[in-house]
Amino acid sequence: MKPDLNPDEFSVFQKFLVDSCGILLSNGKQYLVKNRLTGLLKESDYASIAQLIAALRIDAVPSKLRTRIIDAMTTNETFWFRDNSHFEELRNVLLPAWAANKTGGPLRIWSAACSSGQEPYSIGLCVEEFFRYGWTGIKRNVQIIGTDISESVLAEATQAVYSEMALSRGLDGNLKSRYFERYQDKWKLKPEVADRVRFQQFNLLKPFAALGKFDIIFCRNVLIYFSEELKRDILARIAKVLNPGGYLFLSSTESLPSGLDSYEIVRGATCRYYRLKPAL
Ligand SMILES: C[S@@+](CC[C@H](N)C(=O)[O-])C[C@H]1O[C@@H](n2cnc3c(N)ncnc32)[C@H](O)[C@@H]1O
Repeated sequence: MKPDLNPDEFSVFQKFLVDSCGILLSNGKQYLVKNRLTGLLKESDYASIAQLIAALRIDAVPSKLRTRIIDAMTTNETFWFRDNSHFEELRNVLLPAWAANKTGGPLRIWSAACSSGQEPYSIGLCVEEFFRYGWTGIKRNVQIIGTDISESVLAEATQAVYSEMALSRGLDGNLKSRYFERYQDKWKLKPEVADRVRFQQFNLLKPFAALGKFDIIFCRNVLIYFSEELKRDILARIAKVLNPGGYLFLSSTESLPSGLDSYEIVRGATCRYYRLKPAL
């Protein structure tokens, strides 16, 4: 049987992917490339994956198609309140601590690989619930920024419209009835939460400075696709855009790679996360 891609083609594709978005494709994943790119070929001028890879080799693929390839190769699995203990910590510890500091400015939170929006909107729901039940003053400014490399997931995130099935993955029934309204045969998040979140296409390989500084960063379930070296580089750069005493959440199955001394571990009620160490 003809192999999906020959070893040379596969290594050209591996290099394209790691250089353009950091994703490491391990050997033996030829079938994955074939599965994910076959659909794209129909919309392109290339007759085969081999032809497409030949064009990638000489950097001749139009940028729109390159974006579509990256889109096709990303894994966008996400759901509401994933690793719920992180959101409990936000609601019960971090938001009250920020609110108690009356002289502080706006709270800026970055969801650094936000997929179709469930992560930044779960943060937004925590903030709204905190203002509703844990706060007696006027609402203060909380900005949530969701970024992702994939344009197609960002288009979904911006719409804030989800199927019944998508909502059933992690969203509590009370939050659903309080903050979602019927939209055709789906559900739309109400503006009081949706408007707090701004989305932007952003590749974690690029410099972060233009995004500004943040108090809390969620960077969950994305670094697992990168090399140890790239993970370390991204986490070191994240430390530079955290405000003093700012917090970082990785997923519950991830941990900091060795050799990073900018963070200290915070042991929360039911989870652990990280705080930027004070400068010496
Ligand atoms: C598995 S999802 C995680 C979503 C969410 N953070 C969560 O934990 O549920 C990983 C996301 O990382 C994004 N991604 C992959 N490489 C990226 C890169 N270089 N820059 C920004 N986002 C990237 C993918 O498009 C995908 O939406």
